[in-house]
Amino acid sequence: MFSGFRGVDHVGIGVADMGAALEFFGQRLGFSDVLFDHTGDLPGIEELTHRRRTRARVAMLASQCPTPLGPGRIKLVQTLEEGGTPAAPPGTGWGEIGICEVCLHARDVPQVHKQLVDGLGCTSLMEPVSATVMPFEIGVELSYVADSDGGKVELIEWTGLWKALPGEPRLEGVNHVAFGVADMAATREFYGQLGFTHFVFETDGYFEPMRPWYPREMPRQHMVLVLPGQGAGIEPVQLHPTLDGRGTWGHAGPMEFAIGVSNLDAACAELRSAGIAFHSGPHTVDVGTGEWRYAYFHDPDGLAVSLVEARF
Ligand SMILES: [Fe+2]
Repeated sequence: MFSGFRGVDHVGIGVADMGAALEFFGQRLGFSDVLFDHTGDLPGIEELTHRRRTRARVAMLASQCPTPLGPGRIKLVQTLEEGGTPAAPPGTGWGEIGICEVCLHARDVPQVHKQLVDGLGCTSLMEPVSATVMPFEIGVELSYVADSDGGKVELIEWTGLWKALPGEPRLEGVNHVAFGVADMAATREFYGQLGFTHFVFETDGYFEPMRPWYPREMPRQHMVLVLPGQGAGIEPVQLHPTLDGRGTWGHAGPMEFAIGVSNLDAACAELRSAGIAFHSGPHTVDVGTGEWRYAYFHDPDGLAVSLVEARF
């Protein structure tokens, strides 16, 4: 059994203006370490977009303060085809099928949130709240700000799970990605095969601070958080009722995620032998600082999720 799955490596975020996004994520959110900044055709994306080709500018960013609870990266994607970066799917609130947030770990959420909103001009989408999540009674502090294209960025501190590393209030790397699913049990079983095995919490109800986000009657929200042994985690959400909010690949805001692997060819062979279908790949792109290798597979909802082997 291939065991080189390393959790969520990065979350892909569509941006309309790469310059503005690099300033936002680099200067305000601390993702200032540019691992590559590549412009060119993206092989295999035509299987996702049904366009003949997809030319894009892609910047892979690492946090200047990655920690075990905030290890993940961010990949900004600006589509350069006619029409540019597609708009975010209309009519979505949070948790519809598709990607709905990127979550960064932080030390001292209230202080970091205040700094972002009052000091750096970020838009607050949810003021800091404290909660205790079941069944392990884990304390958590969280808030939300908008990214440069209006996408949802959660700030979280797992105060009851693991004490943050010492230091000043700060933002760290990606803690988890949230995405809507149609069948929670099928999703958990599927991602369990990919190393997402540390169950952290499960809630089923209405998280009231999110109520204003829905342009329709608020659906019931069933959410689960699962962390892997290394890398960032996943937060699948099943809404009752739900709708399809995945939109066009590359759309503005959080739009995909990638699972890190130590050996892409071995990982693909393992998943294929388990009956998992691939959209495309493996592909290798020369990004100047090295090779970016990826392949896209179908998850139980047909979401295009990638495996990534970072040789840069
Ligand atoms: Fe979250």
